[in-house]
Amino acid sequence: MSAVVTKAEMQQFIKLCQKLETFVLHVIRATPSEQQMDIIRAIDAGDKRIAVKSGHGTGKSTLLSWISLWVGVSKYDAKIPITAPSAPQLLSTLMPEIKKWRNVLPSVLQESIDIKMDTAHFKNGNDLIMRTARKESPEALQGYHATNLFFLVDEGSGVPDNIFEVVEGALTGEHNVIIMVGNPTRTSGYFYNAFNKNKELWKTFTLNAEKSSNVSKDVVELRRKQYGIDSDVYRVRVLGEFPRASSDALFSVEVLEEATKREVYADDGDEIWGLDVAWYGDDKSCLAKRKGYFLRPLETREKQSTLETSSWVISEYHKAHIKPVAIFVDNNGVGAGVYDQLIQAGLPIFDGNSSRASSEFGLANKRIEMYQRLSKKLDNMKIPDDDDLIGELSSVRYIISEKGLLMLEPKVETKKRLGRSPDRGDAVALTFYEDIFISDVQENVQSKRMEKADEMRNSSSDVGMAW
Ligand SMILES: Nc1ncnc2c1ncn2[C@@H]1O[C@H](COP(=O)(O)OP(=O)(O)OP(=O)(O)O)[C@@H](O)[C@H]1O
Ligand SMILES: [Mg+2]
Repeated sequence: MSAVVTKAEMQQFIKLCQKLETFVLHVIRATPSEQQMDIIRAIDAGDKRIAVKSGHGTGKSTLLSWISLWVGVSKYDAKIPITAPSAPQLLSTLMPEIKKWRNVLPSVLQESIDIKMDTAHFKNGNDLIMRTARKESPEALQGYHATNLFFLVDEGSGVPDNIFEVVEGALTGEHNVIIMVGNPTRTSGYFYNAFNKNKELWKTFTLNAEKSSNVSKDVVELRRKQYGIDSDVYRVRVLGEFPRASSDALFSVEVLEEATKREVYADDGDEIWGLDVAWYGDDKSCLAKRKGYFLRPLETREKQSTLETSSWVISEYHKAHIKPVAIFVDNNGVGAGVYDQLIQAGLPIFDGNSSRASSEFGLANKRIEMYQRLSKKLDNMKIPDDDDLIGELSSVRYIISEKGLLMLEPKVETKKRLGRSPDRGDAVALTFYEDIFISDVQENVQSKRMEKADEMRNSSSDVGMAW
């Protein structure tokens, strides 16, 4: 369509914009998956409370971006408040998705949408506003009124309940709609209730990634290997089902998912590394690097001699801007050679033998001790969204020994369930081998800092609104 539009073209265009389905197919010219199409049809049929639980990558954020553009372009007196648990989810995932689809619209429409960092203004007067869902500031979602109010919620499972209370308060008008999508990570709260005790209030959908044309069969197969087909992570990330929560799991999927999404400052606490050593077999050597509560992406090497592994760690040490105060190396078995070589090279190496007895009451050995410490700290940590790591940590089980002490199940059992050794999990746990080097940062301090960061982003935003 050219920038000059004839009357006939305009009439045709207005017709196409009446329904979301025709807008997506003929104005955006996208090809929705069958699963996306089911939801599109529900919106066109007039469903006003829609909840979607889903595996990863099925196209739910994309769907939200299509809905945003459609409402913004075609509805009279519309506002589209969008929320999600973290700023990156909104600004680095959803807004770029909205931009991507705005850029394929006919040019006359593209020119009518002015996208800023966290808002979009439509020439017809409609507004889209992104606000992070923070427990401490529910008022950020307050005060929206319009004839057509479309509240869109991404990653709904992680949105605090008090935010939904505010949203519910605003949804009083006849044409008000709420659409929430997300991975079903948490078995409590507003999102969970929409599929359980409040399900008669919602039109619900479950998007199984195994059946999605947006997710390749190869990816599904890889996830099976990474998570284990019977695992809770597979349920949440692929099948789009809530976790069953095994009672003997040390890490729940909910806590792991939250840790991948948490925002923390990486400038607090000591730099500590953990090294789990493998040799020529199928296992991997893994080096975990953590600064306080911030765990960096993990690095692995496979089929290396002990000398190669040592050289790798020495080079990582010399490259590092922030030198670790301690590197814990599991020196049991094949790790012993690497441990000696690294000490000789002058690195701050510490004994990380996980089979040693624990000095803590009720724990069988250092292995459970370090894993338990990690599990306690995880509530404040940011960990990378690493499918292998999540698969490994969620499959770790604990048992009670004959002496009545808590211990992890034998590694062979974990290997049987997972199909591999939990090398990444072990390296991360090794960074918690001793408690002495951990400088704690209070959670409320973190939270205040995030609010401050919001304020700073807000003051640099062209529209001057907080999110
Ligand atoms: N129907 C479609 N046609 C073309 N591309 C699509 C379609 N649906 C989704 N995509 C693309 O697939 C990718 C994944 O989609 P999206 O981010 O929406 O999935 P998601 O379900 O939100 O994922 P996550 O679970 O990670 O949040 C994006 O790059 C998106 O642009
Ligand atoms: Mg998404």
